[in-house]
Amino acid sequence: MNILVVGSGGREHALCWKIRESKLVDKLFCAPGNAGISQVAECVALGVDKLEELADFAVANNIELTVIGPEAPLCDGIVDVFAARGLKVFGPDKYAAQLEGSKDFAKKFMLKYNIPTAKAATFTDFESAKKYIESEYANGETSIVIKADGLAAGKGVLVAESMLDAIEFTKGCFDGAFGKSGAKVLIEECLIGEEASILALCDGKNIVSLASSQDHKRIFDDDKGPNTGGMGAYSPAPVVSDEVMAQIQTEILDNFLRGVQEDKLNFRGLIFVGVMVTAKGPKVLEFNVRFGDPEVQAVMRRLDSDIVDMLLKVIDGKLADCDIKWKKEHAVSVVMAAGGYPESYRKGDVITGLDAAAETGAVVFHAGTAFKDGEIVTAGGRVLGVSALGATIEEAIANSYKAVSKITWNDVFYRKDIAQKAIRRKNNGK
Ligand code: AMP
Ligand code: GLY
Repeated sequence: MNILVVGSGGREHALCWKIRESKLVDKLFCAPGNAGISQVAECVALGVDKLEELADFAVANNIELTVIGPEAPLCDGIVDVFAARGLKVFGPDKYAAQLEGSKDFAKKFMLKYNIPTAKAATFTDFESAKKYIESEYANGETSIVIKADGLAAGKGVLVAESMLDAIEFTKGCFDGAFGKSGAKVLIEECLIGEEASILALCDGKNIVSLASSQDHKRIFDDDKGPNTGGMGAYSPAPVVSDEVMAQIQTEILDNFLRGVQEDKLNFRGLIFVGVMVTAKGPKVLEFNVRFGDPEVQAVMRRLDSDIVDMLLKVIDGKLADCDIKWKKEHAVSVVMAAGGYPESYRKGDVITGLDAAAETGAVVFHAGTAFKDGEIVTAGGRVLGVSALGATIEEAIANSYKAVSKITWNDVFYRKDIAQKAIRRKNNGK
């Protein structure tokens, strides 16, 4: 069959790489793709915002499965556009995508269906929000979290270090720092614990979680500095012990499915639950309605089943028939970024060492790359995700960083401590 993947980052490269392995695939297209994706798929020069043109392309090229990578087209209603043309598409429709597109919508859903999450209040004007922040601090809160309601490319959340920071960020939201996304603001209790990413397939009748993983959101080692889209990931994540996973299943995933059914949401896709494992059990930080990146890179490296078969079963409501198998090995993916990211950074630097890195056995997923004069150059903040397997987490880390050491460009930057938390947990038992 012919398959189309929509998107251009490390997530889409990891998905294309895995889809390529399937015996069910005839032609694989990716719109718009990137330099790395072009090695496994035919790139199509259509942006993710070109919903009608993408559907035209799918009809003209007999596409039998389209997989939507990023959240923006899902929130814009790409699934509705494809479904109206009778096309098979993996992802929730526009209404259900609000689970990611509006943090207020998601919070109300969590409260309605008893899904454990941080206490929060929603505001539509600055003065009321400010009063609430002041009263929270007066009541002894020492840290609160401010969230712009809508999509903000990972920048719309502040874990405030002081009341003044909280107020200033809130003002920024209402003053248009995130456009319409900041017209509503959530003020949340700050949860303490360790984060984990749970990616689960949902066909409306069943919900099945994939292997656990953990991201590294902050730019610098030891989780210092501003939040990013994610600087590295590993799978499995030992913070998700069997006991924690059982709680996640009953308190979060089962209730999520109940909510999808009772609210009649058209959710045939992937729900990515950002979880904080607190002393009082796992609580939801956020929902995303698409695969997490770089988490999906580590998870795809470990998947030992045919992903195309899995995605089709989700769309057809037959997820119960899926027997998903995992490799025993651990996977680590280290993100290599352009210096300066997540603030301003340069593009167009020539990347060297990609072949040498691949020769180590690692897979290099491209996040922001392009071709220029026959060479592969940087074209985004996050540039590559270098992913390796290992029999132990230590081996997976060593294998990944060995491949990383072969690659360079002007101003390259990456964290040196990806997956160290897993080792600490193993050694300390916490
Ligand atoms: P979100 O986009 O809601 O996942 O927020 C981005 C990041 O902010 C999360 O991955 C957490 O690191 C942090 N965060 C969000 N909400 C909270 C919270 N209630 N307590 C502590 N940290 C949070
Ligand atoms: N790695 C976090 C995200 O994909 O949103």
